[in-house]
Amino acid sequence: MSRSGIVEPAGGPLSGSVRAPGDKSISHRAVMLSSVSHGESVIEGFLQAEDTLSTVGVFRALGVPIEVEGSRVVVQGDGPGALRAAAEALDCGNSGTTMRLVTGLLAGVPGFGGATLIGDASLSRRPMGRIAEPLNDFGARVLTDAGRPPIKVEAGDFKGGAYRSPVASAQVKSALLLAGLMAGVEVEIVETSASRDHTESLLRAMGVPVASSAHYGAEVAGEARVSLPAWGGRLEGRVIEVPGDISSAAFLMVAAAIVPGSAVEVRGCGVAWTRAGVLGALERAGVRVERRGARVSSGGEPTADLRIAHGALRGFEIEPHQVPSLIDEIPVLAVLAGRARGRSVFRGVGELRVKESDRLALTAGLLEACGCAVETGQDWLAIQGRGEEAFERFEFDAAHDHRMAAAATVAALVAEGPCRVDGLESLSISYPEFFNDLKSLQREEGE
Ligand code: S3P
Repeated sequence: MSRSGIVEPAGGPLSGSVRAPGDKSISHRAVMLSSVSHGESVIEGFLQAEDTLSTVGVFRALGVPIEVEGSRVVVQGDGPGALRAAAEALDCGNSGTTMRLVTGLLAGVPGFGGATLIGDASLSRRPMGRIAEPLNDFGARVLTDAGRPPIKVEAGDFKGGAYRSPVASAQVKSALLLAGLMAGVEVEIVETSASRDHTESLLRAMGVPVASSAHYGAEVAGEARVSLPAWGGRLEGRVIEVPGDISSAAFLMVAAAIVPGSAVEVRGCGVAWTRAGVLGALERAGVRVERRGARVSSGGEPTADLRIAHGALRGFEIEPHQVPSLIDEIPVLAVLAGRARGRSVFRGVGELRVKESDRLALTAGLLEACGCAVETGQDWLAIQGRGEEAFERFEFDAAHDHRMAAAATVAALVAEGPCRVDGLESLSISYPEFFNDLKSLQREEGE
């Protein structure tokens, strides 16, 4: 059911400090790897939201006892051999990560009894051939409906191999890594540029010797290589700490960057360079980003507290090799571009067209509604910023896309009057506490 709301302009600076909600990508992976471990795992800092609960529901349906108590999740794993064939279809809801990673994982489990994975209307339109083809080429049996969900996974014989991925996608890479892990075979993946490496980091923290250029190298443009050896070991239950989600934090950070006089801190964000490209983009736009309290979580993730303040913004550019590290932040970075002086260009962003919505079209529509001159091509977007001039009042339908709903809310903070946003219900997919966190930053000043 679509939920609409009127978002008022900020009315004053944002200030204060909030803890970032748990990272969605890492919460999924923590549940998956705990479910195929032996013994009890405790996940701390878990994101309790619709997408991650879809992953919990899937593993429960596969016979794994999982208890969710807020941000603490307890998983009683009994190894991959204990996953039972599910009588009912596994419902992945709106979550592409659930569908693609679970497919890879199940496709690699020797003798697995079979499962069907389904999703909501948005997920049912998304491309699955990108995982089914390489999995099947390496011996798995993954059937799709002409490259779309539902997906059927049958017992196959995943032998692994080397794959050059045409898209830099952590979901494709992770599906293959998880299949290789389950089958105990070697897998190598080469990407055009490094996608987020959370699967690799968590596997390494759990004792699996995954090698990757992203881990050993500094931030690099160009090909990235990941290899998983034929690892015969077993995963043991453990405590996994999930850092804060920089994709969610990005909405608060951009809000601080565009609302005059603001200064905001978001604590405990995961800042792996393969994921934290938004910070470089903010800096190129002229925003001062301060990092404090850097440390590494028990899940192997670098984390930090991030401080952002409003300042003069200039147009900035995003190049194709930077896109995987900020793919989910592009809608809100477009809002930032709308408030900058000059033109911003996002190149190589065609993947946005196959996200929860056609995010390239919706992002262009949002910025146009804000009064910006916008140009788009199949895989690029250019925005002429308005500088400090307020956005026009707008009405925007986020089409049940959580990132679009949050980006539109941030845009409305600097509009010349209240704006109507449809599709706010989708915030429960990745950031159920978004409005509370935003309000706490609006309230702290003067209290
Ligand atoms: C994700 C990877 C990205 C991202 C998605 C989460 C993940 O998708 O957009 O929100 O957890 O691996 P792609 O791998 O398809 O780019």
